[in-house]
Amino acid sequence: MRRRYIVKDLLREITQTLNPCIPRASREAQLLVMKYLEVDELWLITHQNSEIEATEQLFEWVKRRKNNEPFEYITNSVSFYSEEFYIDEGALIPRPETELLIDEVIKSVPDKNSALTFAEVGVGSGIISIMLAKYFKNSKIIAVDISPKALHVAQKNIEKFGLQEQIELRLGSLLEPVSEKIDYLVSNPPYIEEGVDLESNLSYEPQNALFGGTVGDEIIKELLDEVLKQKIKFFSCEMGYDQQDKIRTHIQEKDFKSIEFYKDYSSFDRGFTLEV
Ligand SMILES: C[S@@+](CC[C@H](N)C(=O)[O-])C[C@H]1O[C@@H](n2cnc3c(N)ncnc32)[C@H](O)[C@@H]1O
Repeated sequence: MRRRYIVKDLLREITQTLNPCIPRASREAQLLVMKYLEVDELWLITHQNSEIEATEQLFEWVKRRKNNEPFEYITNSVSFYSEEFYIDEGALIPRPETELLIDEVIKSVPDKNSALTFAEVGVGSGIISIMLAKYFKNSKIIAVDISPKALHVAQKNIEKFGLQEQIELRLGSLLEPVSEKIDYLVSNPPYIEEGVDLESNLSYEPQNALFGGTVGDEIIKELLDEVLKQKIKFFSCEMGYDQQDKIRTHIQEKDFKSIEFYKDYSSFDRGFTLEV
């Protein structure tokens, strides 16, 4: 069913529906309408009295948002590192702080023409491998995930960016499906402690993308062991804000060149780069 609306009336009606379930309901209403009409902020401000047509789809989106389903899953779209990616419930919604992990890799490899072989463990929607492949145009990336649903999302994004030649997806756990010599391992693994109560909107996200084990850092430690065993030259990894000490302790007796930890936008520890 199609209905005609004056933009400002439509925004008011959606705001009233979202209130009080969703904080900042009026902003959320604007975002939903902008996405639905495929218009930008300037259009919305300058067309408050214009008449538009709204179909059931918009009201279905509003209903889902009222139930606290993330905006990105509703609209199948997420922005990361200034690019738009496809997303659905099969994969974790990329977080802004993961952009810092890409910056870490770029910092460690000054020559963007390097012909490196990367592996990514836990590719999810593909954002990390895709941004690395775009930057390091001569590189090859083997991207692993334990979830077939996540690999499906990653495949869609790889095709969207035309990177099928550079990125190969493999189903499996950790580095098990990778037999090639790897120069650089990158990962944003699940690192939350099992049983921790999360905000309600996180219940929509795949739980195996969030929880890393009974302590939380189990996957990170397994990857560290593998990197040291295989003598992979670099390993950049995201981690929890309270995991630095445990990671240092885990590798203190081992043979490697350096480990540098980095902080996120709120000045919490968020990851590290290990050079072997
Ligand atoms: C935190 S998400 C990261 C997704 C994406 N790289 C990002 O940064 O948005 C972790 C991903 O690791 C995958 N995963 C969990 N356990 C794994 C394992 N043992 N081996 C490979 N992938 C795993 C999950 O399915 C999920 O896609």
